[in-house]
Amino acid sequence: MKVELVALGVVSIASGVYGWGASGHQTVGYVAMQFLSPKALEFVQTSLGSTYSHSLGPAATWADEVRSQAAYTWSSVLHYVDAEDDAPDSCSVDESRDCADGRCILTAIANYTSRVVDTSLSDTERQEALKFLDHFVGDIGQPLHVEARAVGGNTISVQCNGATTNLHALWDSGMINRLLPGTYNSSATNWANTLVNRIKSGSYSSLAESWISCSSTTEPARRSVEGDILALLHPRADGTLVCPLVWARDSNSLDCSTVFDYTIGEDLCTSSYYTRNIPLIETQIAKQGFRLAAWLNVLFDGATNLP
Ligand SMILES: *[C@@H]1O[C@H](CO)[C@@H](O)[C@H](O)[C@H]1NC(C)=O
Ligand SMILES: *[C@@H]1O[C@H](CO)[C@@H](O)[C@H](O)[C@H]1NC(C)=O
Ligand SMILES: [Zn+2]
Repeated sequence: MKVELVALGVVSIASGVYGWGASGHQTVGYVAMQFLSPKALEFVQTSLGSTYSHSLGPAATWADEVRSQAAYTWSSVLHYVDAEDDAPDSCSVDESRDCADGRCILTAIANYTSRVVDTSLSDTERQEALKFLDHFVGDIGQPLHVEARAVGGNTISVQCNGATTNLHALWDSGMINRLLPGTYNSSATNWANTLVNRIKSGSYSSLAESWISCSSTTEPARRSVEGDILALLHPRADGTLVCPLVWARDSNSLDCSTVFDYTIGEDLCTSSYYTRNIPLIETQIAKQGFRLAAWLNVLFDGATNLP
């Protein structure tokens, strides 16, 4: 998405958002809140304070709000990684190929993971690190934030509920905005509560452990979340992370299975494209919320402490 700013300059009035729309990001934060262990929860509540209602839900959209401000334009490229794969025929994320200059969502997650626990930084800097993590762990679950094709889908015009949008915005917010009013009374907290119940005792309960194993069928387990964070923060460690790369590959794989699979001219919010993909979007949001909690729990309490 190297020209994303140019493209979004045109579409942002219509779509209004970058990355999962506000509801998607807030829901990731609200899901994470329900799985935080004691010290992680205490840090989050104290750091965010009343400005964000002491919650990762409201704080999750800050990174999108500042991104267009002059003081934060440098952060714009950190919301994605331009996977130069051959989607939809062949999907892959390769950190040395796709993040060669060291400025993408993969390095940003590593950077803000180190910074959020760096006690030599000010409270304000650590709060910013937390807000960036809250947001980027969400973004990395959006398949078109881990794809270079068509500028992450920004240059592909599509229809949603009779309106013209683009494929990237459709995944950020178009399909979610159709889901929320009818199913969750337009409430991110209602949505989050439903996803949390699915993780605790419903259709996601058998999957949740695999979401935080940092392995997949294409990525044999090399590290746990605990091992990954130790590897980043230990003074003699190599400083590279495996888990965010696994998460990126996980969402990038959807670019080969479903994201680009539609008929030109069909309305993607009223056709089978919607019914096929909205469950995947719900799963991505739940996954990223659960992964965010695991990440913060290891950072502040030393273990994932999750079901
Ligand atoms: C790391 O964080 C600092 C402070 O926000 C920022 O200036 C720098 O660009 C970040 N680098 C990456 C790769 O995220
Ligand atoms: C839906 O949301 C509205 C506005 O927040 C509220 O007044 C109403 O009671 C809610 N409906 C249900 C069924 O929860
Ligand atoms: Zn974003």
